[in-house]
Amino acid sequence: MAERCVRVGYGVVFRAVFANMDPERAHHVAFAVIRWLPRVPFLAGVVERYSRPSAADGVTTMGIHFPSRFGLAAGFDKNAKGIAGLGLLGFGHVEVGTITAKPQPGNDKPRLFRLIADRALINRMGFNNHGAAAAARRLERARRNPGRPVIGVNIGKSRVVDVADAVDDYLESTRLLAPFADYLAVNVSSPNTPGLRGLQELDQLRPLLAAVHESAGRVPVLVKIAPDLTDDQIDAIAGLAVDLGLAGVIANNTTIERSGLTTPEADVAAMGAGGLSGAPLASRSLDVLRRVRAVVPADFCVIAVGGVTTEADVQARIEAGATLVQGYTAFLYEGPTWATRINRLRRKRLRRAQR
Ligand code: FNR
Repeated sequence: MAERCVRVGYGVVFRAVFANMDPERAHHVAFAVIRWLPRVPFLAGVVERYSRPSAADGVTTMGIHFPSRFGLAAGFDKNAKGIAGLGLLGFGHVEVGTITAKPQPGNDKPRLFRLIADRALINRMGFNNHGAAAAARRLERARRNPGRPVIGVNIGKSRVVDVADAVDDYLESTRLLAPFADYLAVNVSSPNTPGLRGLQELDQLRPLLAAVHESAGRVPVLVKIAPDLTDDQIDAIAGLAVDLGLAGVIANNTTIERSGLTTPEADVAAMGAGGLSGAPLASRSLDVLRRVRAVVPADFCVIAVGGVTTEADVQARIEAGATLVQGYTAFLYEGPTWATRINRLRRKRLRRAQR
């Protein structure tokens, strides 16, 4: 009941306020509320009780126990500032970042666009973040919270660093952040940093992943891939991840594709370059997930992300071989009770399955 009220209320606020606000500004307003939530103990307690995932949805993978299969994808909490609040909203894990070794402002604004008719976003944020040293300090504090979600740390290349020097740059982030991460995600798939996706070429990817894996020690390392790779490239990268002894693959990042959208072509063109996320990405993401799962062993962690909106979507990804499932874009459209609702429906499904 309370969940439905908040959901309906959010729908009204979204249409009346957020939809008329610059999307990045709306994100900051929403994020401020999320950060504030844990500071109001009574409210935090109530929210936590409602949002908590079912213990039956928990899973152990990469040597880590995840309280649920469903978590928040990278890009929402770029600076590791909202982990406690996001955990209260029901996400079993939060992948912070992308964090780069050096602080950087990202691309010029505007750089985030809504495609409401498609329940999608286009972004060219460009890894705006405070840098690895600042994030490490925050992560150290966040880890002390006993009720925290699992924390993934997503790292990328600093823009000022040449692609030829990428390995050292990723290693700097690894050194600073691995001690405070439950897992590390190596992002080589965002379309908004020039040359980054070229790091998915095997001759570049192998030394990069091998070096990060070695430097991370016992912290599990995953690689996050683009949905725009060819099938052969996906197979090769998944195989490489297994050969190198990585912990998993995250499939996938945003796409540079623009086909099949309801939003008028001229509007989409006016938004310009960037990665498309949300519902239009769902089908391709499912294909990429199946492709990866066909290559890797059963106990290898595959995190499915891209266009997940409903609990049925989460279930479909699990049935297609996902160990964990993430989402980002639907959070904007569904509102703060999104993970709560998914957790509630999963509890129901899992209870039904036990009968
Ligand atoms: C992202 N995503 C992303 N991924 C990543 O690895 N590092 C990042 O910094 C970001 N930043 C980012 C910003 C914004 C505004 C969006 C919408 C997305 C990609 C994200 O983690 C995810 O892979 C895709 O968005 C696909 O999932 P959804 O959004 O369709 O659920």
